[in-house]
Amino acid sequence: MLLKRASDIRSSEITPEAVYRSRREFLQTAAAGALGAYAGASLLSDDLWAQAAIAGVKKSPLSTTEATHTWEQVTQYNNFYEFGTQKSDPARYAAQLKVKPWTVKVDGLVTKPADYALEDLIKPHQLEERIYRFRCVEAWSAVIPWVGVSLADLIKRVQPQGKAAYVAFTTLQRPSEMPGQRTSSLDWPYVEGLRMDEAMHPLTILATGIFGKELPNQNGAPIRLVVPWKYGFKSIKSIVRISFVEKMPPTSWNIANAAEYGFYSNVNPMVDHPRWSQSRETRLGSFVKNKPTLMFNGYADQVSKLYDGMDLKKFY
Ligand code: MTE
Repeated sequence: MLLKRASDIRSSEITPEAVYRSRREFLQTAAAGALGAYAGASLLSDDLWAQAAIAGVKKSPLSTTEATHTWEQVTQYNNFYEFGTQKSDPARYAAQLKVKPWTVKVDGLVTKPADYALEDLIKPHQLEERIYRFRCVEAWSAVIPWVGVSLADLIKRVQPQGKAAYVAFTTLQRPSEMPGQRTSSLDWPYVEGLRMDEAMHPLTILATGIFGKELPNQNGAPIRLVVPWKYGFKSIKSIVRISFVEKMPPTSWNIANAAEYGFYSNVNPMVDHPRWSQSRETRLGSFVKNKPTLMFNGYADQVSKLYDGMDLKKFY
């Protein structure tokens, strides 16, 4: 997300980096002759071939038909503060993280709490390819082919109790393998949360892969949240705990700067970030911030009813 504590940085410092990176990636991609659909991306990178393929993935009718970005674009320009605050840090440093074996604790107001081995958490559910628009709060966007399972299916299986109104998520805390956690760029561990109806929405997934392959570490291996109508920072990476709670849980960017980052963080072109407009965005691979941002990132038909009667300026 931001390079320093949010309060220390001007928007003019952010967009140029995004544009610069996008331009560089565009040129690399163009040079390799692999623009557009992700079949082309596989020609680009040895890393893609090194990642294990995921079997048994079904295509989802919830996917957008827009062309995806490339493997290179999606895996080399990341926000993952556990590995540093620069966009290139995750790709550079995340390989040292051991993601196997991996356990996810499910606890709180739930009938079937347990420490689930990742395989046991995922196996009962249908893996789907979900091609979603992704919008970072810093006003860059991308189209990403995730592989994941419906969070709603998983929630139904573990059976939350009636009082559970929110779902809280926690990222791994392992400073020995996550150098950013040896700094105070954020309070650790990274935490996020959703209201129960948001967590149960059919668009919300827990992703274990991209481009048909296991997630690379920099993208949040081995399991991360994806909520396509919200700004990217809600999509918490490398999850080790899912808790069912009664009260709205704390979230990392809200803790860091409550005036700028709220709990809901729905993509909304009418509600600007205090330091920059959200009405337009820069598509990775483009040079300019000229793409109109869509309400709820283009998912308004599916999700706007979740917020009926809410003042979205107040609940940002
Ligand atoms: N999850 C953790 N644990 N740590 C982070 O720093 N960054 C968030 C989100 N999830 C972050 C995180 C932000 S700001 C964004 S935009 C997305 O991850 C970026 O996901 P990507 O790198 O796969 O594009």
